[in-house]
Amino acid sequence: MHIAVLNGPNLNLLGEREPELYGRTTLAEIEARTRERARQLGVEVSWTQSNHEGELVDAIQRLGGGEVHGIVINAAAFTHTSLAVRDALLAVRIPFVEVHLSNIFAREPERRRSVLADAAVGLVSGFGAESYRLGLEGLVGHLQARHGA
Ligand code: DQA
Repeated sequence: MHIAVLNGPNLNLLGEREPELYGRTTLAEIEARTRERARQLGVEVSWTQSNHEGELVDAIQRLGGGEVHGIVINAAAFTHTSLAVRDALLAVRIPFVEVHLSNIFAREPERRRSVLADAAVGLVSGFGAESYRLGLEGLVGHLQARHGA
């Protein structure tokens, strides 16, 4: 099984960026932990971060028709705004789980809405860096159940 993890804008600054909200764990550390958990689960992971909406759309399009079975996505601020990211996810028809470090529903009104969530398998929000592990585990469990594995 192959899972793609996609990260949106400013997540490259994790560790130093608003640590009271997002913690001190860097994106590289989250990647290492996610890869380790994926290894334990017997799953392959690819990892992408981009600050650019179009690059994320291109990255999602490239996953279509390929070997990728599921997507874990933290679209960051694009979560709340990007119909282009939503449309790309729907176009490739790859099941995805939305993850956030912070609890977006406990934040400013404009962050309480996700334009992706209703199309997701599920959503993990508020567990800091652990949200990625929880999202990966939830997605893999979902895909295994679906494929009878
Ligand atoms: C975030 C929440 C978003 O509202 C914000 O724009 C981010 C990070 C999170 O992981 O908590 O950049 O997606």
